[in-house]
Amino acid sequence: MKTSCNLIISCLFFIFFSFLIISISTESNLHITPSATTYTNFTYTESTQNTTFPQSQPYAIDIQFYDNGTTLIHLVRDDPNTNNTIHCLEPILRIRIIHLNRTVTEINKYLDIDPVVNYCLFNDASTGKMMNPISIRPLKEPFILVSYVNTTNPSNYEDWVTVINWNGEKLSSRSLGQSYYDANKTWSPKSLIEININKELGFLRSVPDIKGNFEFINCTQYLM
Ligand SMILES: *[C@@H]1O[C@H](CO)[C@@H](O)[C@H](O)[C@H]1NC(C)=O
Ligand SMILES: *[C@@H]1O[C@H](CO)[C@@H](O)[C@H](O)[C@H]1NC(C)=O
Ligand SMILES: *[C@@H]1O[C@H](CO)[C@@H](O)[C@H](O)[C@H]1NC(C)=O
Ligand SMILES: *[C@@H]1O[C@H](CO)[C@@H](O)[C@H](O)[C@H]1NC(C)=O
Ligand SMILES: *[C@@H]1O[C@H](CO)[C@@H](O)[C@H](O)[C@H]1NC(C)=O
Ligand SMILES: *[C@@H]1O[C@H](CO)[C@@H](O)[C@H](O)[C@H]1NC(C)=O
Ligand SMILES: *[C@@H]1O[C@H](CO)[C@@H](O)[C@H](O)[C@H]1NC(C)=O
Ligand SMILES: *[C@@H]1O[C@H](CO)[C@@H](O)[C@H](O)[C@H]1NC(C)=O
Repeated sequence: MKTSCNLIISCLFFIFFSFLIISISTESNLHITPSATTYTNFTYTESTQNTTFPQSQPYAIDIQFYDNGTTLIHLVRDDPNTNNTIHCLEPILRIRIIHLNRTVTEINKYLDIDPVVNYCLFNDASTGKMMNPISIRPLKEPFILVSYVNTTNPSNYEDWVTVINWNGEKLSSRSLGQSYYDANKTWSPKSLIEININKELGFLRSVPDIKGNFEFINCTQYLM
């Protein structure tokens, strides 16, 4: 089971990213050599039933793994009605869970959040990178941590997280504090959420914080 899972994962990397797999030898001189990788194909057909934009190709914008290889794919479809200045996505959270037995569970969820803020890619002027305000992270099985921006108070956006299970049911949610605003008081989604390497210790959030001419990084650990 474990081996076949690794094969599926390798294959996914090849399909989506053409990833270079390196293995580090256990000898003391630590040669880095590419491993001979065998891979199998995994095919899954996305239905066009559950989308308003069946003509928009689905994209995998993130891939995350549980410790035993169960895989989360974050899928999006472009909203073709948006103009060139702003790149927006269909406002549905789509997660595909690839189980070790190769079955796929679909989550297609309407979160009750501001679509213009959460489902439009943010062009970070300082780095030139496009940021997606929504992220997904694998907690312990069968839970998924979803982060987003809550705009209930328009002058003070907040970073929030919600925990859903593999049935897409919302189990809990909470604010993590103010979202990042740059020195010009312009909102800019810069916080990062990462699962602690020891999953028993929950997750970490880091966000820059400006004080005078200095920028600090606030890092907070959250327990589940
Ligand atoms: C995977 O699919 C591609 C495209 O259909 C094909 O060229 C390739 O041979 C397949 N690889 C394996 C290992 O089946
Ligand atoms: C559409 O989404 C719903 C809810 O996730 C799911 O029950 C249904 O099977 C989906 N239909 C198709 C055709 O994928
Ligand atoms: C994956 O690992 C978790 C915890 O280690 C376990 O609870 C779960 O049953 C495993 N899943 C599968 C499909 O083996
Ligand atoms: C593009 O769309 C955004 C958001 O809907 C809107 O604010 C902006 O005015 C539009 N720009 C043009 C050139 O239509
Ligand atoms: C595949 O694994 C998942 C998760 O462990 C389980 O819920 C599902 O019933 C399994 N499906 C089959 C066909 O074995
Ligand atoms: C957004 O914040 C409001 C006020 O704190 C809260 O009542 C609401 O549940 C939050 N919405 C989401 C989707 O988290
Ligand atoms: C703030 O605005 C000024 C003037 O428009 C600009 O030069 C500066 O780069 C902006 N700073 C940030 C962090 O965007
Ligand atoms: C960073 O932490 C300080 C001290 O706890 C707090 O006052 C500040 O609001 C935090 N900044 C952000 C952006 O979360």
